[in-house]
Amino acid sequence: MLKFISVNFVKFIGGIFVAILDIKKAGDLVLKQQAKPIEKIDKTIRTLLDDMAETMYKANGVGLAAPQIGQSIQVVVIDVGEGLLELINPTIIRKEGTEIDTEGCLSVPGIYGEVERAAKVSVEYLNRRGKRHRITATGLLARCLQHEIDHLYGRLFIDIANNLQKVQK
Ligand code: NI
Repeated sequence: MLKFISVNFVKFIGGIFVAILDIKKAGDLVLKQQAKPIEKIDKTIRTLLDDMAETMYKANGVGLAAPQIGQSIQVVVIDVGEGLLELINPTIIRKEGTEIDTEGCLSVPGIYGEVERAAKVSVEYLNRRGKRHRITATGLLARCLQHEIDHLYGRLFIDIANNLQKVQK
């Protein structure tokens, strides 16, 4: 199921090798595709979760979806400062209210914009052991869940944002 992964470099963390993956940028077709659900959670998927988390931390991101590293599969990692969340086949089962705030994306570096999202969401997903979980979130975590799940449907925040701005580095 996994396609060839381009690896930037490999780090040795806590006794295991973790790969820092190449992040695809807007314009890459994989970011426009509908990602496939995972049917079997095996070692390959767990290794991918490890690599995606390290790649997200290295890039100072708060979330990363598998299409962003070239894999059109339904895998997401998130850490908004409340600990690492690993989500396989995530689905939004409930949305409440709306909220507008600024977003960016590791696949669209240097660009920020205002995006309207649900203020509160409930998401169902499988964890790395295939156990079904449900999370209800507000604030940044709710926003991040919606942004990352959008990636699994081939949607980028720049498609729905207002007042896009370029930030010079
Ligand atoms: Ni993104």
